[in-house]
Amino acid sequence: MLSPVVAGLMRLPEWGLSSSGLVGWVEEALAMGITSFDHADIYGGYSVEAAFGAALASTPGLRRRLQIITKCGIKLVTPARPGHTLKSYDSSRAHVLHSVNQSLRALCTDHIDVLLLHRPDLLMDPDELADTFRELQAAGKVLAFGVSNHRPDQLAMLHRRFPLVAQQIEFSPLHLQPLDDGSLAQCLDLGLQAMAWSPLAGGRLFSGQDERGQRVLQVLQALARQHDAAPATVAHAWLMRHPARPRPVTGSGRLAALREAVSAMTLHLSAEDWYRIWQAGSGREVA
Ligand SMILES: NC(=O)c1ccc[n+]([C@@H]2O[C@H](COP(=O)([O-])OP(=O)(O)OC[C@H]3O[C@@H](n4cnc5c(N)ncnc54)[C@H](OP(=O)(O)O)[C@@H]3O)[C@@H](O)[C@H]2O)c1
Repeated sequence: MLSPVVAGLMRLPEWGLSSSGLVGWVEEALAMGITSFDHADIYGGYSVEAAFGAALASTPGLRRRLQIITKCGIKLVTPARPGHTLKSYDSSRAHVLHSVNQSLRALCTDHIDVLLLHRPDLLMDPDELADTFRELQAAGKVLAFGVSNHRPDQLAMLHRRFPLVAQQIEFSPLHLQPLDDGSLAQCLDLGLQAMAWSPLAGGRLFSGQDERGQRVLQVLQALARQHDAAPATVAHAWLMRHPARPRPVTGSGRLAALREAVSAMTLHLSAEDWYRIWQAGSGREVA
């Protein structure tokens, strides 16, 4: 359902694209096989969904050629949401329904392909949320649901009440937690689509000045030379090598960077090379 590489829109405000420029960018991404676009209600201070929606509205037929992932559940305090008085999480029926209706309006669409609960709400009532998901699905407003940044036990509690399809987690050679906390294993076990946000550690893979960052970069560069590929391609291939087949959620607005991510689909790393990158990231040999 999702493309092997997902394009993230969190940084859209930094790209300086006009509405027609954004249409062109989406068309280029589609031509590369990137058909899934990752949003959240809060991106750009609640502005990114509307910018994307304007691009969709201006181009007949474009919506049908792509999938929209968006998220809800974080409340930011901003003039765009005068009702919010504290940065907090909210997975109540009232908030989720309201948020989805706002996202649908902003995105100029009648349905969201995948809705993710952005962060684990400490006050989440899983039965209420499952009922809310069923209501949204029955209304045709959301086709499928998942979570983001949830621990395996938190995901499992909701999944027992409503069949989730995806988990979006931070994963990169500089963020190895999903390999250790059971998140990727759980996706594999339950058949959930894993998505990896900040696959290049938000750019720190290439700009990190610390010893760890330098160590990882050196290994990526050496493997890049061997494979005649860009270091970013090797980094994406490393993520995708896991049997849960995580979909990297890219963060760059540069088309060349999207191309480097897509090239990872055909770069197969040996298990030893995979562990070479893991070792550089974790700073130790396996036991
Ligand atoms: N679920 C969540 O909680 C959550 C949290 C954060 C993000 N996300 C999603 O994940 C997406 C990606 O996050 P991210 O932006 O942190 O991802 P990323 O791909 O790790 O980082 C992108 C950043 O790295 C820079 N960069 C430096 N060298 C690069 C290279 N060779 N290739 C590509 N980029 C390079 C980019 O700059 P240039 O633009 O100049 O290339 C950009 O600023 C977001 O857009 C959002 O959709 C989800």
